Amino acid sequence: DLPTIELSTGALIPQLGLGVWQADDSDTEKAVEYAIGTAGYRHIDTAAAYGNEAAVGRGITASGVDRGDVFVTTKLWNADHGRDRAHRAIDASLERLGLDHVDLYLIHWPLQNRDRMIETWQALVEIRDAGKASAIGVSNFEPHHLDAIIDATGEVPAVDQVELHPRLAQRDLRSYCATKGIAVEAWSPLGGSGSGWGADSSPNTLLTDPALTGIGERHGRSAAQVMIRWHLQNGVIVIPKSVHEERIAQNIDVLDFELDDADMAAIAALDTGARVGAHPDELALGARD
Ligand code: A2P
Repeated sequence: DLPTIELSTGALIPQLGLGVWQADDSDTEKAVEYAIGTAGYRHIDTAAAYGNEAAVGRGITASGVDRGDVFVTTKLWNADHGRDRAHRAIDASLERLGLDHVDLYLIHWPLQNRDRMIETWQALVEIRDAGKASAIGVSNFEPHHLDAIIDATGEVPAVDQVELHPRLAQRDLRSYCATKGIAVEAWSPLGGSGSGWGADSSPNTLLTDPALTGIGERHGRSAAQVMIRWHLQNGVIVIPKSVHEERIAQNIDVLDFELDDADMAAIAALDTGARVGAHPDELALGARD
């Protein structure tokens, strides 16, 4: 069985899920159907900004697995901050997904405008209380963003989803979240696609990193499987993206081997702090109006 993490709400989230960023409608629908219907996934991570929520919904239906057995996450986009916009955004996401609730709803990015960000967080509390999201959380929040919304509302996010992979191990953020009971999810858990962040884009070099492929060889596994194992053993929720059936299956075939202390230490040594995406404080997102 897939390992789970207990959220602060008491709900269980499967610790391994399928990411679908940068997957078009046709690829997304097929990947979700295969992941749930064949490969055994029970957790899909999408976002309004990915433009593929409707395809995720169709893929879940096509899988033949009960909706209640699948954990679905989506995210509120930057243009939808503010109370009224947030309420409209969740309704639109549910409509596209074809669902009456999501299991987790996240604020996709923090804002420079603290008041506006807090207002949005308050709206997510209302959305949760209305039953449209079973749990609520955030993405790309640094501890100072988390402090701002927690101090203002007393409501602690169930989850913070951040860029996290062997080169950006997020040790400080993970220990901060542990003290608050916030579960940490990793995006670009394999080091990303090597495209999509403009001029700074560089190819994924983690999947061929000799330290990771070397550990993989000893276990008869790929570098991707080694990284997924590393996340699981760190207690992190991991959502590797692939639209290829062979890789989708490979990425969940990680429950019957274990990294030892020396492996974990060798992977920890890869942490240079290098990001593949934007730093939340450098994105400088303003709020509209
Ligand atoms: P693809 O969909 O073409 O398989 P992330 O770190 O964001 O999860 O990104 C993983 C990237 O690596 C994706 O671009 C994905 O592309 C690719 N990928 C996913 N799983 C594997 C795997 N097991 N082996 C090699 N590449 C993978």
